Amino acid sequence: MRIVSIGGGPAGLYFSLLMKKSDPAHDITVVERNRPDDTFGFGVVFSDATLEHVAAADRESHAEITSHFAHWDDIDIHYRGRVMTSTGHGFAGMSRQVLLDILQRRCAELGVRLEFQREVADPNAYRDADLVLGADGVNSLVRSRYAEHFRPRIDWRPNKFVWLGTTFPYPAFTFLFKESPHGLWRVHAYRYDASTSTFILETTEDTWRRAGLDRADEDQTLAFCERLFADELQGHRLLKNRSLWRCFPTVRNECWRHNNVVLVGDAAHTAHFSIGSGTKLALEDAIALARALQTHGEVEKALAAYEEDRRPEVERLQRAAQVSLEWFETAERYHGRLEPLQFAMSLLTRSLRVTHGNLKLRDPRFVGAVDRWYASRAEEQSRAPISAATPPPPMFTPFRLRDMVLSNRIVVSPMCQYSAEDGTPGDWHLVNLGSRAVGGASLVIAEMTDVSREGRITRGCTGMYKPEHVAAWRRIVDFVHAASPARIALQLAHAGRKGSTRRLWEGADEPLAEGGWPLISASALPYHPYSQVPRAMDRDDMTLVREQFVAAARMAEQAGFDMLELHMAHGYLLASFISPLTNVRTDEYGGSAVNRARYPLEVFDAVRAAWPPARPISVKISASDWAEGGLGFDDAVGFARSLREHGCDAVTVSTGQTVPDQKPEYGRLYQTPFSDRIRCDAGIATLTVGGISSYDDVNSILTAGRADLCVLARGHLYDPYWTRHAAYEQGWELPWPPQYASVKSFTPRLD
Ligand SMILES: Cc1cc2nc3c(=O)[nH]c(=O)nc-3n(C[C@H](O)[C@H](O)[C@H](O)COP(=O)(O)OP(=O)(O)OC[C@H]3O[C@@H](n4cnc5c(N)ncnc54)[C@H](O)[C@@H]3O)c2cc1C
Ligand SMILES: Cc1cc2nc3c(=O)[nH]c(=O)nc-3n(C[C@H](O)[C@H](O)[C@H](O)COP(=O)(O)O)c2cc1C
Repeated sequence: MRIVSIGGGPAGLYFSLLMKKSDPAHDITVVERNRPDDTFGFGVVFSDATLEHVAAADRESHAEITSHFAHWDDIDIHYRGRVMTSTGHGFAGMSRQVLLDILQRRCAELGVRLEFQREVADPNAYRDADLVLGADGVNSLVRSRYAEHFRPRIDWRPNKFVWLGTTFPYPAFTFLFKESPHGLWRVHAYRYDASTSTFILETTEDTWRRAGLDRADEDQTLAFCERLFADELQGHRLLKNRSLWRCFPTVRNECWRHNNVVLVGDAAHTAHFSIGSGTKLALEDAIALARALQTHGEVEKALAAYEEDRRPEVERLQRAAQVSLEWFETAERYHGRLEPLQFAMSLLTRSLRVTHGNLKLRDPRFVGAVDRWYASRAEEQSRAPISAATPPPPMFTPFRLRDMVLSNRIVVSPMCQYSAEDGTPGDWHLVNLGSRAVGGASLVIAEMTDVSREGRITRGCTGMYKPEHVAAWRRIVDFVHAASPARIALQLAHAGRKGSTRRLWEGADEPLAEGGWPLISASALPYHPYSQVPRAMDRDDMTLVREQFVAAARMAEQAGFDMLELHMAHGYLLASFISPLTNVRTDEYGGSAVNRARYPLEVFDAVRAAWPPARPISVKISASDWAEGGLGFDDAVGFARSLREHGCDAVTVSTGQTVPDQKPEYGRLYQTPFSDRIRCDAGIATLTVGGISSYDDVNSILTAGRADLCVLARGHLYDPYWTRHAAYEQGWELPWPPQYASVKSFTPRLD
């Protein structure tokens, strides 16, 4: 087979040596524009020091590569004069030049033809080869030449970075944050041989411009950085090597192959340097492609198999890299706002690949310090003494909202049961909510309960609009209070344009075929094109509905609820004012974000005034509509800020369900990033909900400051005792009701 690799970086060289090794009859040429000893940058880091795949593919080069590794286990985080160390991470660094030397030597040894100082101007020149490798890096010419087939998408990130070296031998993988009058600087540094470290400096474009670096050449950049980091470098020098300021491009291609041309390494995909995986990905691509060719023989089949094999892994890493790069881009959000250990947790768990539980295995001392710090803050905040000798797992610390003290951080999400009779909750509701309170959650939020008969979603929805409702709810509230330490909240709502529909199991959001009722909303826009068209509310409607909310709040007080949640999410009546997709009014309740928030805030104020001052109110919002032209993050932060100013105690951060053609990005903890940002930027306590299923994720969210409380909906449908199971697995004892005292002598076998 005649193979040409355009580009002699790690991907091209490694693939070539593997192919030649598998069959010396292959005729393989690597065309590289640089000289053999001519490389940009300094060291590369392998986040996974074992590199098992590389060991198995070619023991010779693996042995040489690993013999040059500078190993380290620690991550040091320099934050506001303090250095926090977390150990057990197992990284290895090495000089990029040494890596290339090893791969070049091995290629030469096996008989791969290496043509240096030869720039390929048109990859078409090699079209008669059996296989052409686009291994020409991030700015790939091959990719652009066949762009209509590869369909690349390049996301240029806003931050500026420069790749420098230093003679300071960093003892650990180091993240250094430094403030100057220009702004905040982030350094990613790691040693790659006995005496040299990579030193990548990153900052926002604004800070970079304020520092005048947009006009600086390489030497001026170096001089500026040496001055800025004089204390940290302790007399050591920074080193340059084509050290130009750049923006990071995240490269994705819809397809990686075209006829006999295939993309590998950075030409196909990039992953931000903060997760240090670019070289590892390039080597793994080479292994997968060589294996596919050996297995399938035929080029077309092999290239398809290669892409099918690699794409999921690459995309998984790119998702982690995306979260990571966004964390660094927005580090100003956390810097100075989070206390040191929380800042460290936020950084270490940023891409969800590392959790509180992983860290505890790697470094129990560090996590012990985090847990002690978290418990002490919880004790201060809640004014509830924590008597345990060892700190409780973070999820079992108390939290206060006004006079209500929650015994832990787990909340049962409101979930409609569609089982009420003219709004009256019955035995199903008693058992449903009662068993979840006994199951250990500290707060149970009763389902969306409507302030009028016409405000219901379905005929089975609960209400708080008739005197009988008070007694029916009182029965449930009293049970929860008598049988558990849990507190219970009521979620008050009006369905708006999403009303008069069928029960969940009969077709959610589908209009009733008969017996429906007239709908109102912010604007006369139906939910589905075939749904009933609601009437746009006039001022009289607004006053009426506001007073219905107030009346319902008073009834909730009589029923003994500890807290209210106002439902301003998921496209229901109050949410319909907030989103520009459902509010096209031209009066003072439509148009700008301030106008759209006016009526929901009016309702909030009226309810707040009627609700006992000692009891809290939360508001559930949709922080994004997941739809073009809809609510985005800035609107959500602005609204959460207004809520705080109006005396709201906490925001439950949900998303979507405003319009049927939404395009949500579901996944594990998919709504938590919104909670994280709102908590930091709006300065209000948050409840995060959505895709939470493990106690480890809960502990990670809390200690990293992404929310104050974690809310589980479906998790609690599946397992009413979710909190008790989490306690058991963490060796934490939750008191049982006296009726269940004998359970203490029972040992569950969960495996
Ligand atoms: C600041 C920074 C820090 C990084 N840190 C790390 C890290 O810590 N760990 C890590 O694993 N990765 C890191 N990377 C990424 C890593 O450098 C790349 O992911 C890796 O080198 C990709 O290998 P490659 O072979 O695909 O491409 P490259 O290494 O870019 O090789 C491509 C080669 O093709 C040659 N070439 C390009 N065009 C032509 C042409 N027309 N004709 C001939 N030759 C051509 C180039 O000269 C180059 O030698 C970092 C990248 C940056 C920018
Ligand atoms: C059956 C069911 C009913 C729901 N009813 C409500 C509700 O009444 N009020 C509300 O705010 N959210 C409601 N939701 C949304 C959940 O409270 C929660 O926000 C969502 O399910 C995401 O959480 P999860 O991933 O833990 O399930 C409901 C969800 C389900 C599954």
